[in-house]
Amino acid sequence: MSDEHLEADYLVLGTGIAGLTFALDASAHGKVVIATKRLPDDANTAWAQGGIAAVLGADDTFERHAEDTRKVGAGLCRDEAVDVCVQEGPARIHELIERGVAFSREPSGELDLTREGGHTARRVAHAGDITGREIERALLAECARRSDRITILPNHMAVDLLHAGKYGGPDAVFGAYLLDRASGMVKTAVARATVLATGGLGKVYLYTTNPDVASGDGVAMAYRAGARIANMEFIQFHPTCLYEPRAKSFLISEALRGEGGILRLRDGTPFMKQKHELESLAPRDIVARAIDHELKRTGDDYVLLDMTRLDPKFLVERFPNIHAECLKYGIDMRGQPIPVVPAEHYSCGGVDTDLQGRTSVKNLYAIGEVSWTGLHGACRMASNSLLEGAVFGHRAAADARHAQSAIPKSIQPWSPGSAAPPHEAVVVSQNWDEIRRLMWNYVGIVRTSRRLERARRRIELIREEIREYYWDFIVTADLLELRNLALCAHLIVESARRRRESRGLHYTLDYPAVDPALTRDTLLHRSDGPFAT
Ligand code: SIN
Repeated sequence: MSDEHLEADYLVLGTGIAGLTFALDASAHGKVVIATKRLPDDANTAWAQGGIAAVLGADDTFERHAEDTRKVGAGLCRDEAVDVCVQEGPARIHELIERGVAFSREPSGELDLTREGGHTARRVAHAGDITGREIERALLAECARRSDRITILPNHMAVDLLHAGKYGGPDAVFGAYLLDRASGMVKTAVARATVLATGGLGKVYLYTTNPDVASGDGVAMAYRAGARIANMEFIQFHPTCLYEPRAKSFLISEALRGEGGILRLRDGTPFMKQKHELESLAPRDIVARAIDHELKRTGDDYVLLDMTRLDPKFLVERFPNIHAECLKYGIDMRGQPIPVVPAEHYSCGGVDTDLQGRTSVKNLYAIGEVSWTGLHGACRMASNSLLEGAVFGHRAAADARHAQSAIPKSIQPWSPGSAAPPHEAVVVSQNWDEIRRLMWNYVGIVRTSRRLERARRRIELIREEIREYYWDFIVTADLLELRNLALCAHLIVESARRRRESRGLHYTLDYPAVDPALTRDTLLHRSDGPFAT
């Protein structure tokens, strides 16, 4: 394999729980190259605090986990995806433990299970309040032990997928162009199976709990390559992000409410009682909307999450990371409530896949947050996402073993054409800021048809500008992310415009009720073939 041309059986884009699970399983059957656009642990997974849900407690059942998931999913969960995740969940957790993940345990040695919004049982395995970081650590260590089979390329960002159709072959993907951010060189990476495990798209919004890498690259590349995209209107806003201008995107885990935290207005009034029978532990869409409503009604900048009635020693032991982070800003949750606001957290839609993680384009898989398997329906239940990543990472690896290569005999290397070095980086930063702000204001927790139309018009203008810029100037990671972000914004707006009802995470004042006739998915698909921008 030369520097410019990489060849493997499996090319994985992304290093979260889904991508690493796929890589570890697939490495038993072939060579795996994983490209990640920053460092290997720069993944959404590493930021997950709460945990991973599965039926692990003696008083829990598959039926209950499935029923809770479906109830939160507001009529749009795909039954088979729910059943598969729920039933295979315990095996995946045990596999994570075998791979070295140290989940928190009771003094008896049993897994310590917590609760989060929408769950009617304690079924969330966690590693203190840094579950994702621990999973990431263990899986990366396991990949390092298999370095004869797994190569991780840090600072390599996918530019676009390689499509056999462009070479007169079938409608199949056979790899990707990768921008090596250190050298600026674009390499060609080919594989029998290509796996999108690129995570979420939080950076489409001004406020998000996601890390900077979450720019929707996988959804955008898949759409450009002709894959079907589903349910992009269902963007989840986490109700409790720390309200502190100096803290960038710091999540206050739902597990705090799972352990008894109470949401209050700034004057101390609890406000969730009237909104849902589970009160502060209601599903996220309901809590986020309730907070949004109270903030607009009172004019306050934040609400409070009150943990003060819990045992102070328990709080520090159970939430050491959150406690330490809050203390940095002078907030001691043992004696004072935490100021919180909602922020974008998770995309429930994504690249449409079947139960093997296969997309509608041959040899292209999508797993984890980038995918839409149907598990989450119109609203994801907490801690079902790490579960989905593990289950579908495993399933996709079992399937990809049988992928038949569609690699053409000769492949064009990346050509920058007459592109010149960019001379006005301000175009990128201006468009980036504009998208994030307008998505927050017009396509956020509460939508209207008029706001969506405004957003649509502006995003089209921005995309037009990016198109010109993209072909004229040499690609940079910032430009690639902006192009992907703008396309994701477009897909979210288009999906939201098509759903003329309120359901789960999509709430519009113009259609405030559920319309049973719209109990169906929103599917978007490029009709004019792969690779237009
Ligand atoms: C949290 O800890 O609140 C996040 C868990 C999740 O989003 O699943």
